[in-house]
Amino acid sequence: MHIRPLAAYGVAAALIAGIGAAGAALTTTTPAAAAGLPYQDPARPVADRVTDLLARMSLDEKVGQMTQAERASATAADVTTYRLGSLLSGGGSAPAQNNAAGWADMYDAFQRGAMATPLQIPMIYGIDAVHGDNNVYGSTIFPHNIGLGAARDPELAQQIGRATAEEVTGAGLDWTFAPCLCVARNDRWGRTYESFGEKPEIASAMTTIVTGFQGSTLGGPASVLATAKHYLGDGGTTNGTDQGNTQISESELRAIHLPPFQAAVDRGVGSVMISYSSWNGVKSHGNKYLITDLLKGELGFTGLVVSDWAGIDQLDGRSGFTQAEVVQAINAGLDMIMVPNDWKTFIGYLRAAVQAGQIPMSRIDDANRRILTKKFELGLFEHPYADRSYAATVGSAAHRTLARQAVRESQVLLKNNDVLPLAKTGGKIFVAGKSADDIGNQSGGWTLSWQGASGNTVPGTTILQGIRNAVGGGTTVTYQRDGNGIDGSYRAAIAVVGETPYAEGQGDRPGSMSLDSTDLATINRLRAAGVPVIVVLVSGRPLDIAAEVPNWSALLAAWLPGTEGAGVADVLFGDYAPTGKLPVTWMQSAGQQPINDGDGKAALYPYGFGLTYADGPGPDPTPSPSITPTPTTPPPSGSAGCQVAWTTNDWGTGFSANVTVTNTGTTTLNPWSLQWTFTAGQSVIQGWSARITQSGAAVTATGESWNASLPPGASATFGFNATRGSANPAPSSFTLNGTPCTVR
Ligand code: GLC
Repeated sequence: MHIRPLAAYGVAAALIAGIGAAGAALTTTTPAAAAGLPYQDPARPVADRVTDLLARMSLDEKVGQMTQAERASATAADVTTYRLGSLLSGGGSAPAQNNAAGWADMYDAFQRGAMATPLQIPMIYGIDAVHGDNNVYGSTIFPHNIGLGAARDPELAQQIGRATAEEVTGAGLDWTFAPCLCVARNDRWGRTYESFGEKPEIASAMTTIVTGFQGSTLGGPASVLATAKHYLGDGGTTNGTDQGNTQISESELRAIHLPPFQAAVDRGVGSVMISYSSWNGVKSHGNKYLITDLLKGELGFTGLVVSDWAGIDQLDGRSGFTQAEVVQAINAGLDMIMVPNDWKTFIGYLRAAVQAGQIPMSRIDDANRRILTKKFELGLFEHPYADRSYAATVGSAAHRTLARQAVRESQVLLKNNDVLPLAKTGGKIFVAGKSADDIGNQSGGWTLSWQGASGNTVPGTTILQGIRNAVGGGTTVTYQRDGNGIDGSYRAAIAVVGETPYAEGQGDRPGSMSLDSTDLATINRLRAAGVPVIVVLVSGRPLDIAAEVPNWSALLAAWLPGTEGAGVADVLFGDYAPTGKLPVTWMQSAGQQPINDGDGKAALYPYGFGLTYADGPGPDPTPSPSITPTPTTPPPSGSAGCQVAWTTNDWGTGFSANVTVTNTGTTTLNPWSLQWTFTAGQSVIQGWSARITQSGAAVTATGESWNASLPPGASATFGFNATRGSANPAPSSFTLNGTPCTVR
């Protein structure tokens, strides 16, 4: 960390005579005069330093602090002349030399521009480090948030935040526009993958990542300002779009979308970014109740509120922005405006609005107090320049190991006809699919560029490379993207398919959410060979696959794992038994969207669902063609009894069943085993919280390792999805370990 006294920068004493956008001359004093003033004394309380500095600032200097310009539209001299308080890189906006040193050099050049101003207020530089420091080439790319939501591991999230903060610091930067605490309620939304899931409790739990980014307090080693975004309700728009309208009651808004922001505020998040979306028809960028009364007042947020990219342009529904929109946004409580390009106009409007009394100086001072407080707390006044001591952490082995663990924990096993885990040795494995050997696809959007891209875009390990590295010498792994060349001599085929990268509105899916024709053709080519087909789905959201799943031997939701694809292979070959649980409800069909836990719609896989290998069969190079019969347990010596509650949700040609079995006997059953017979051709597709097998019409449900024992009086609840014909009569009788049950 370079801590050099300001005077040491030899900042030439110079009269700064700049011409503001409106032609008004800016104030002029000598930079050297800034040295040794109270606000320059780190021993003083931050609040006092802010008060002293504010008193010295002209209106132009205060207006400049509230302006955030995109790097490509400003120069270091502009930072000096217009007193710009912040710069940002939009997605993919990088210096010509896109590595840690190149970014740090760029940052320092802009910072020298800030240090050349009379009061030497350092600028702060924002970037979307949303799954690693993803704009910087060679950085570690972690799984996108939906995968971390599946992992349900807050400690891991904090470690990821810390690792990301080190890489952001190593590239010289000090502010990340992350985490997205959006609660995705409609999977058509192109930003579903930026969400931790459909329920607020996951995002709230994952705000540990804020502590990872910032440290327990701002200003420690590699401390980076975090951003809770997008406030408020962006994941709940009725039509699942980024600029859409969230039409819900305030109590629903508070129950579903607010808790993660409260959690982030409680963790001391330094900034909040406002959402493009509207709530009940009011644009959040102009909603004073949400920003000032609720966020700053009720939640007690004392950090800075920043707009989204050109977010104020949308207030009047017309392109570009007006002085009136500037007034509405600032008076609503926004403190800094992200004005990527037309920031000179913004400065002119803001200054004019204050001078005309449209915006009270108290609002300007409040905004500046918030901005300056974070800059003091970050230590930018004491160490304004890049800390290059963290450059070596960018893409480091330690960070990639952490990312691989995150990939393992994010995998959700949705179906397994006893083909996983695969044996590492013996026989041949065929790998196909457009995302098997494509690190761009497995990383998704916000990777090196805003939208991300298919192909060999960044260094890392593809899923195919992970598979090759996992198998033993005696195994042949054949890869052919489209599945051509497969035959019955392979013991298994792995199809890695799904979505190609996208971001924001370009990912909105108002229509089909199915696999594309390329993927379907690849899978069918593999199926035609008559070998077990394992589908690995690389996607940012659930896809419409219900019609195809019955033809697959196994299904693993990999989400968007990032650069460490070996983590997927770790699960496929059993080096890590899957622990991931769905963070979102998996629809039966796209027409059900939005579909969320508790809304009564029948899912293909419910929220929280996920299989594991716990006590499953070990690696089996030649999967048994027959279903292993469940051993029948003789009736216990004491009195035996059983009660069953059976409910179903029927749809189209399928249904979802929820079953509760109670041991009313006097002997513990371990394992318990419930059996029944379907009478109308029903066929189980997939179960949860029990291992369900079917032979003809006879069905057996047995407890998983974690709920195998059923003591007297205890109940076990499990469920399953199944296909059906026109009727769906409940079974007429059940037996529990051979004892007849009564049916509630
Ligand atoms: C984008 C996104 C926001 C991002 C910002 C800066 O439009 O909505 O999440 O932080 O602009 O890139």
